[in-house]
Amino acid sequence: MTRKEKAIVIGASGQIGTDLVEKLRELYGVDNVVASDIKGASNTVMNDGPFEILDVLDGNKLAEIIEKHKITQVYLLAALLSATAEAKIKSAWRLNMDGLFNVLDLAKEKKIEKIFWPSSIAIFGPSTPKVKTPQNTIAEPSTVYGISKLAGERWCEYYYKKFGVDVRSIRYPGLIGYKSMPGGGTTDYAVQIFHDAILKGNFECFLGKQTTLPMMYMPDAIKATIDLMHAPSEKLSARYGYNIAGMSFSPKEIAAEVKKHFPDFEISYKPDHRQQIADSWPHSIDDSFARMEWGWNAEYDLEKMTNDMFKHLIPMLKNPELQKH
Ligand code: SER
Repeated sequence: MTRKEKAIVIGASGQIGTDLVEKLRELYGVDNVVASDIKGASNTVMNDGPFEILDVLDGNKLAEIIEKHKITQVYLLAALLSATAEAKIKSAWRLNMDGLFNVLDLAKEKKIEKIFWPSSIAIFGPSTPKVKTPQNTIAEPSTVYGISKLAGERWCEYYYKKFGVDVRSIRYPGLIGYKSMPGGGTTDYAVQIFHDAILKGNFECFLGKQTTLPMMYMPDAIKATIDLMHAPSEKLSARYGYNIAGMSFSPKEIAAEVKKHFPDFEISYKPDHRQQIADSWPHSIDDSFARMEWGWNAEYDLEKMTNDMFKHLIPMLKNPELQKH
């Protein structure tokens, strides 16, 4: 981002938004990164720099805010995740698709220059090869969320090819961080397990013990996002979404890692409706295309992530002042 550029993060109170706003403000200066959400966000996100209440479905208000702050880059993170979307089919479709159209159209009208829009491993489905899922393969998602993300991918590619819109996208795996809680996703258990290990010493998992899914530690996801946004446009041939891989593990494997820190920790399993969603997704991801085109490389494996999570979360959960962060 050059000096004249200004970014907005839409969905700043969410799991990715909380981390991304902080990182972007650190890199570009607090005044150059506007945070926005339909509701309030953490103290840090709301008070450390510009903040706007915004429903991304309100195209007029979105255009006003873009104009007011002279925004050049949009990070569109507002979405309903996989588990919530199954319960709210139509509103998930509206938010996930119309929100994207509102932003793509602003770029088409040359009111903004660059867009980041997250896709997901959820674009894959039961017929996709599950191990080392390639960049281009069968994608027949069986969830509302996956259908909306796959359609979004196609629209991003279309707007790039047809109108020259500079849109960039990543297929995030399940994300794990300590700064915020996820909401409504199928991979959320992998964050909750750390909180429950510290606060209760046990955890009831809503997925079965052998359910292996692709996952990533938040600092890697943020690095991927920023690296992709910095990559020279001409290097990027896939505007619909890059596979990126961090680690893959099952509840049983992460529980074993947690036990290294809390030897008395116990996990029990009570799979619910989210099991079916998880079963439709890949076990691991082949990210060689992202490595080749823009030099992607993950830093954290399960052990390194677990150490870092506990290092930050233990003091936070034991000190209510830090929790408000
Ligand atoms: N973590 C997301 C979910 O579970 C996947 O993109 O919905």
